[in-house]
Amino acid sequence: MIRLLVINGPNLNLLGLREPEIYGREDYAALTEKLQCWAEEEAVGLKVFQSNHEGALVDAIQASYGNADGIIINPAAYTHTSIAILDALKAVALPAVEVHLSDISKREPFRQISYAGMACVKTFAGLGFEGYHEAIRFLKAYLNEKNDPQAGL
Ligand code: DQA
Repeated sequence: MIRLLVINGPNLNLLGLREPEIYGREDYAALTEKLQCWAEEEAVGLKVFQSNHEGALVDAIQASYGNADGIIINPAAYTHTSIAILDALKAVALPAVEVHLSDISKREPFRQISYAGMACVKTFAGLGFEGYHEAIRFLKAYLNEKNDPQAGL
């Protein structure tokens, strides 16, 4: 079974409370429940990790080596600042997909750069929670294709 790790960065634990006009009214527990439902539907194994600390996110990426087949990551504000997260993603070299609830390309200039995105095979932004659903589907297809290149024919 494909093993996916979802990593969420700072302040995502405050979903529902934080800027609901940007991030929606559903809370973090609702997101993790949906993630588990989508993983069941797609028949993939899925673990979720959230931290407000950059080093803890780096540790989680490092620990995924040998324990996960792919990473879905929303580094939140660290997207725009963290070379350490970029380097960790490059180090483990697992296929990674970047997710943002909001469309960062249409927001403030400081959100226009994504360091983590430079190590990701795909980005879903501006789709709310559904972005994670798309990321699960994408990574499943990507990993299946990688393991059996004939499968998509
Ligand atoms: C975010 C976008 C980031 O710019 C912001 O700092 C976040 C959330 C998103 O999911 O839209 O915390 O990653």
